[in-house]
Amino acid sequence: MNPSDFAFPIRARLATKGSYVGQPPSHRCFGGQERKDNSMSSIETEAKRRRTFAIISHPDAGKTTLTEKLLLYGGAIQLAGSVKARRNQRTATSDWMELEKQRGISITSTVLQFEYKDHVLNLLDTPGHDDFSADTYRTLTAADSAVMLIDNASGVESQTRKLFAVCKQRGLPIFTFVNKLDNEGPGPLAIMAEIEDVLGIQSTPMNWPIGQGIDFKGVYDRASQTVHLYEKSAGFGSNAIEAVKMTMDDPRLASALGEKLYNQLLEDVELLDVAGEPFDLDRVLSGNLTPIFFGSALTNFGVSLFLDHFLGIAPTPELRLAKVKDVIKTDDFSGFVFKIQANMDPNHRDRIAFVRIVSGMFEKDMEVLNRRSGKRLKLSRPQRLFAQERETVELAYPGDIVGLTNPGAFMLGDTVTTNNKVLYSEVPEFVPEVFARLSNQDISKLKNFEKGVEQLCQEGLVQLFWNTKSLQREPILGAVGKLQFEVVQYRMLSEYGVKTHIEVMPYEIIRWLEGDMAEIKGIYWGSSAIGLEDNFGKPVALFSTEWGCNYQTEQHPKIKFLRSPNEAFTELAG
Ligand code: G4P
Repeated sequence: MNPSDFAFPIRARLATKGSYVGQPPSHRCFGGQERKDNSMSSIETEAKRRRTFAIISHPDAGKTTLTEKLLLYGGAIQLAGSVKARRNQRTATSDWMELEKQRGISITSTVLQFEYKDHVLNLLDTPGHDDFSADTYRTLTAADSAVMLIDNASGVESQTRKLFAVCKQRGLPIFTFVNKLDNEGPGPLAIMAEIEDVLGIQSTPMNWPIGQGIDFKGVYDRASQTVHLYEKSAGFGSNAIEAVKMTMDDPRLASALGEKLYNQLLEDVELLDVAGEPFDLDRVLSGNLTPIFFGSALTNFGVSLFLDHFLGIAPTPELRLAKVKDVIKTDDFSGFVFKIQANMDPNHRDRIAFVRIVSGMFEKDMEVLNRRSGKRLKLSRPQRLFAQERETVELAYPGDIVGLTNPGAFMLGDTVTTNNKVLYSEVPEFVPEVFARLSNQDISKLKNFEKGVEQLCQEGLVQLFWNTKSLQREPILGAVGKLQFEVVQYRMLSEYGVKTHIEVMPYEIIRWLEGDMAEIKGIYWGSSAIGLEDNFGKPVALFSTEWGCNYQTEQHPKIKFLRSPNEAFTELAG
């Protein structure tokens, strides 16, 4: 399955009219009037109901399937997984997702909101490919926790390792869902050992599998001390089903599991209680212990059990607020821009800035301060985006994500607020590792070329550098992965109508230079390095080898060769 199928549940959600509750109960239409309550207690209540999270996994572990099932259990869709419907949706997705389909990767992130048992869940979709780790990192800044999805047969894979490292770096609580228990795997103990060895985090089993592969019989839920029996549901899990549950003393249990697995379960339960890592909420919330769940997303098994525990343990948005509560009252609105995306909808061709709300109540048309520019802005036309579909947002709360149309008013990392003291620095910039010259192949499209380059840079897809010594003002792109160059070329053509040429340069190391400008300008870089300016006019040098970089550093002791221009820059983990 292609991760771009992520669009399916979103569309299905919109198609199943009435199945989705867009506004929390306290704001549903009331006698034709929208009831609005911006008291502090109401904002706190709404914040407490929210869980904002992302799923991290290696491609094929089942992220799309699990997402779909979460929506199914949340009542946001009624029928999941019809292959036919999926195929139809695939052809219905708009052309700008073409590249995703061709490459089998998910380039863009979307946020899905659904309700489950009086909670509001905001699920951030993280792109699945290596080269998009910068975008993924930024998306994770908007999450309060992460669900790490692991394939029972494949264990901890490379992309999971990288994404885990990012979550760890951010101190995010991580929940583990071991998927595909209906397939054979090395066994739960081996998976837990691998998680500890490879990722360096201990796990605490919330449930325990009984058999696996063709012998998979279900899971034992430790909190309720009940067995949830697995039944390969008709229609491959397209309907939300309640698992049959049995307590440990139920006389039917032994025959339901078979003698061997029953005895094994009795042993396992005893062993887990005495030898397993105990559940410790503080350790979970500080990202040092991961609650682990077993299930099979395809057949819906273990999904609602996971959700029930997740709601009870996962942090609410208020925890993030704790960091700033000295400067902000919870009824002050504040949020930060973690993602900018141009041309999401080919019919509108506008730029959307995605704001993660940290505190207070968001209201359509409210006026806020952009702390970076110092400008006051009216937030009109706020939207929730679901693939190509849009919905106007009237009200939103901490944890929610709002899309704002962005005629250049926002930059990545901007803080928007009604309190002029708060300033977030959650969203880092990245140190590029690959570089390429981008040239315009159609001189009559120069304006579009310049606009495209500027907008894609604003999204954070690439960074721009300029060779001020060259007569041609050709942009040099810096990125964390080469695939981003292909995306730039593809989007330049499909969104701005400009054919471009990419020439990858042989440099891998960048340094920002600080010191006497005359000395910097006079440096002879030789053939294995080049001196450029970044998009803000700061001098930089690109090197093809570490040796070359060290050589120039030694030759110019009065000049600082900095790994990044300021603290906001981060070198990608992994
Ligand atoms: P991804 O988004 O992480 O890349 O994974 P995706 O959900 O697309 O799932 C990858 C494959 O794994 C799919 O099969 C999907 O049906 C299968 N899968 C997901 N969850 C489970 C599970 O619990 N058990 C089993 N046995 N398989 C599971 P596919 O053949 O690649 O795609 P499709 O033909 O089913 O669409």
